[in-house]
Amino acid sequence: MDRRELLAGLRALPMRNRIITALDVPTPAEAYDIAKRLGPDGRFVKVGLELFSATGPAIIAGLSALGKEIFLDLKYHDIPNTVASAARVAAQLGVAMCTVHAAAGRTAMTAAATALATAPPGPLGRRPALLAVTVLTSLSDPELHEVSPSPDQVQDRVDRLARLAWDCGCDGLVCSAADLSRLRAVVGNEPLVVTPGIRPRGGATDDQQRVATAGEAVAAGADYLVVGRPITRSADPGESLAALADELTAID
Ligand code: C5P
Repeated sequence: MDRRELLAGLRALPMRNRIITALDVPTPAEAYDIAKRLGPDGRFVKVGLELFSATGPAIIAGLSALGKEIFLDLKYHDIPNTVASAARVAAQLGVAMCTVHAAAGRTAMTAAATALATAPPGPLGRRPALLAVTVLTSLSDPELHEVSPSPDQVQDRVDRLARLAWDCGCDGLVCSAADLSRLRAVVGNEPLVVTPGIRPRGGATDDQQRVATAGEAVAAGADYLVVGRPITRSADPGESLAALADELTAID
């Protein structure tokens, strides 16, 4: 499936169904409990390093059996052959989206994009979208310069890696709401943008430094939102998700 067709399909869903609940929990029991309580708006869930390390691919099959689509956020960063092979396995698991570090380089990103474009359709009937992570939002300028000295500031590097990722055939980017408007100006409207750091207005920010409401993020150009604790730590995850989804329906 080519990139244009895949992205059109992902953008055809109503905004209220484009919230990805981050299942950042250490056991399958907790993950399934939250997934079951999400209600009809909760079509997408994120499986990250913690849950995947605890469970392996069985969690993908289990959540898929509950009707969930999976954002597998393992942020591949390795040599091209390994990154491409991992992406191919993700396609066979039937995940909707997976992630690669743009810092893995042109050859690795191109290899992953090619592996996905040529993989046989998995259980979803379409290939996963490949999303690039540019610079981790947890990295400050001094810390980035410590690992990789350069006159570039973090923002310059984000912009350069975003352009490179799109050129290499990635389908989109993971990007904070704070950087979204600038990044859209750099890469245009075609790349799919998935945005974390979402909080209800006046809600706890937890350890996130820069947050936006769901409405603000979508107005700035986000296609999908990743929301963790405001949903997963709430007494009623289904109700919390529905409240965020209502905010998006208003601007759909
Ligand atoms: O609980 P909270 O809503 O802060 O969770 C946000 C989710 O988005 C977490 O799974 C986190 O790993 C992810 N994320 C992020 N910032 C990034 C990339 C991913 O918060 N830059």
